[in-house]
Amino acid sequence: MRVSREEYQQMLVTELHKIYSDETVDHALKPRNMGNIDIASGYASVTGPCGDTMEIWLSVDNKIIAEATFMTDGCVTTIAAGSMVTEMVKGKPVEEAMRIGQQDILRALNGLPEESKHCALLAANTLKEAIIDYYEYSHDKWKRSYKKQW
Ligand code: FES
Repeated sequence: MRVSREEYQQMLVTELHKIYSDETVDHALKPRNMGNIDIASGYASVTGPCGDTMEIWLSVDNKIIAEATFMTDGCVTTIAAGSMVTEMVKGKPVEEAMRIGQQDILRALNGLPEESKHCALLAANTLKEAIIDYYEYSHDKWKRSYKKQW
């Protein structure tokens, strides 16, 4: 039996819904904020123990996160976590965004299977590192020109 591309995609979506929440499937298949920010206020690249890497770029205006983007070479749930965390921080004061942790991301995704929970931790850790990077350079922006370019 030959399966068309549309049928195959539908089968895939059905299978994903058996494992993951609607929120996770939605963010995994239609990731928000994917890509980079050319002149970012904060940036981080973190590799988790599983070997997957997430990058997050932040654009901060007057201590408010105006834009947040991400990239990852990770799995479906890593994409969903990156998409969700960048949505969660947009419009938030940096200080408040710093308090977002793994559990907040898991709650927003309406849970992840046990073996995928670390994907939310990777997203939370990458966000924290990007905010630390922002704090490091927010007072001395010129120092950034001496940092390795991304
Ligand atoms: Fe490692 Fe998702 S499987 S971060």
